[in-house]
Order: sequence, then structure tokens, then C-alpha cells
Amino acid sequence: HHYVAIMAGGIGSRFWPMSRTRYPKQFLDILHTGKTLIQWTYDRYADFIPKENIFVITSDEYAGIVQEQLPDLPVENILGEPSRKNTAPCIAYISFKLMQKDPKASLIVAPSDHLILDNIAFKKVCLEALSFVNKHNAFITLGIKPTHPNTGYGYIQFEQHAVTDNVYKVKTFTEKPNLELAQTFVNSGDFLWNAGIFVWQVKNILTAFEQYLPEMFEVFSAETDKFNGPEEKAALEAIYPQCVNISIDFGIMEKAHNVYVIPSSFGWSDLGTWNSAFENFKKDSLSNAIAGNNVMLVEANRCMVHVPDEKLVLVQGLTDYIVVDTDDVLLICHKDKEQNIKEYVAEVKRKK
Ligand code: GDD
Ligand code: MG
Repeated sequence: HHYVAIMAGGIGSRFWPMSRTRYPKQFLDILHTGKTLIQWTYDRYADFIPKENIFVITSDEYAGIVQEQLPDLPVENILGEPSRKNTAPCIAYISFKLMQKDPKASLIVAPSDHLILDNIAFKKVCLEALSFVNKHNAFITLGIKPTHPNTGYGYIQFEQHAVTDNVYKVKTFTEKPNLELAQTFVNSGDFLWNAGIFVWQVKNILTAFEQYLPEMFEVFSAETDKFNGPEEKAALEAIYPQCVNISIDFGIMEKAHNVYVIPSSFGWSDLGTWNSAFENFKKDSLSNAIAGNNVMLVEANRCMVHVPDEKLVLVQGLTDYIVVDTDDVLLICHKDKEQNIKEYVAEVKRKK
């Protein structure tokens, strides 16, 4: 009764220009490892969950890419969504679908675009979480010790005493706090980051949808008799326009009273920005991170260079720069200014 839902519908906008709406981050080999992030994710779960029980939920427009990148995954396990409505509708969809197939299903919900270094430790935590949720009406999140006040994460405060070995009851869950609050959380030492990986029984999360997102629950309920049949696509096209755009974090995790956390350390990184990619790269002797087979650096330090393998690239005299080349865009940006990339791109698009 164990299942995994890999969410792969996001657009990864902070990895511009490599990650683009038509080919986002989860489908890229950001770390130049020979596998894309979704391939790493799939392999990680296929190690302990039968592939028939692994689902990938993505936008209709990416379904073809998923099929290409995960040839082992049964095609019927690639679920396309007609529009992008964030993670709550995505999770409602897979939950209603699984409920019909297997009312006893327990589900791991996973992002498709993270880095996890220690797969053995990761698997152990997942199995612990599954075993806990099989016995309790609990929503488990995996928590990571924070290193800085990142405002892009959820923050988890938990009770001192463990319920069982490694599982703690969550006191507060705060999604994407402002910088001041994030700083307070990190300083206090009481908080963990939400890794965005959740474990629960499908029937319990559906009850939470009914309680906290009742409209979404109703919209899905009215159509689910068509799931797992020829009218599924049409049903989704009726459902999605009626769904609000909301994440599971804001929609349910902040509100539910049965949230638990397993403090974890398995070498997790959200790989959210070029700097975080840089941190996870092997470096050359001058601390440059290089993806590309024909890159030559002269008097360059701590640069992040990501270019196509077939392209010959020469960089001289740069320190702390991001250099990213793609078919149609070249980016050269100081590492300290990467937060501004979004703004620059907006500006470029406005002027075009
Ligand atoms: N199918 C589908 N449909 N997938 C989606 C959609 C959608 O509409 N929107 C996002 N996803 C996928 C993304 O591709 C990613 O794998 C995952 O769902 C999480 O979405 P993000 O958009 O990356 O969320 P986030 O990074 O802002 O925040 C979440 O992750 C943080 C850790 O990385 C939250 O759970 C935070 O609390 C958490 O700290
Ligand atoms: Mg993310």
C-alpha cells in the first residue's frame, strides 16, 4: 500500500537562463552528473517502492519530457494537469485517484527538483515515516536544520519530546515567512526547514482537504467517478479552472493539527539558485565549479560556469561570477547579485 507522488509541474524560474518555462529545472542536469534532477528523484524512490506505485504529476506540456526521461516508469503513471495551480490541486488529484484504487494507500509526496546526497539515510527516514503514518492519523514532514534565514521555505517549530524514536509533534508551521521572522526563527534554534517531502495516508489527507480546502474538495468529489477511465482528461478540464491556486503548505500544513516532523540529515539541498548549485559542485583547484567539457579558465576564482558540452568557452580574470550559456541566452552575473536575476529578466522582457 505504499505509493510515491513526484510533483514535477513547477517552472524553476530562479535558474534562468538554463531553466525555462518550456524546459524547467527538474528536467535539467544542473549539477552535471549525467542525470537530471527528476531522474535522480525517481531512482531514489524506485529503490524501495515498486515502480507501478510511483506517479509523476506534471503539466500536460511536460508529460512528453517525463516519458522521455523516465522510460522505466509505466506511462499510465504520468499524470498531466491541464493548468498550473500549485501543489494543493496536484496532491488532491493524486489522492482522489489513489483512493479509488487502494483506500489503504499511504503516500510520500515529493518534489522533483531537490538534491539528496545520502540515499541510504533518506530511505531509512521514509520507511520510518511510512510506518508511523500507517499507525496514526499524522501528516509527517521531513525537517532540515536551517543554516540561514531563507524566506523561500516553510519553518517548523516542534515539541521537545519525541512521540516515537524520531517523530516529533509540530507546534507551528509557517510557510515562507518574511526576512525578519525567518531570522527570528533561525536565531531561536527551535525551528527546522520544511524539506517539502510529506508522508501520510491518502484517506487522512483527503479529510484535511474536506476540512481546510472544502471548495476544492467538492470540485474534485463531483468528478472523481470519471478518474481511472476514458473521461479522466475531460474531468480534469472541468475541475482545474475551478481550483484556487494554492500550495499544500499554505492550504493545509499551516492549519492542520496533526502535523509531525522527523528531523533529518541526508544531505538535502533545495538547489534553488546558482549559488546553491555552486556549493554542491566539485571544484577545481581555484574553487571554480564547471559544467561543460570544453571550458578553460585563466585567473578565475570561485566562478560557476555552466555551458553546453560542445561549446568551447574561455573565461579570464573573473572572480565570483556566474557564467551560463544556452542556445539563445548568455548570462554573466556576479554571484552576489543572483537574487536580482528575476528582475533583470523581467526588464529584458519588457524592453523586447
Ligand atoms: N504537478 C505540479 N503542479 N507540480 C508542481 C506545481 C503544479 O502546479 N507547482 C509546483 N510543483 C512542483 C515543483 O516542480 C516542485 O517539485 C514541488 O512541486 C514544490 O513546488 P515549489 O514551487 O518548488 O515549492 P517551493 O520551493 O516554493 O516551496 C516548497 O518547498 C520548500 C523546500 O524546497 C514548500 O513545501 C516549502 O515549505 C519548502 O520549504
Ligand atoms: Mg522548490
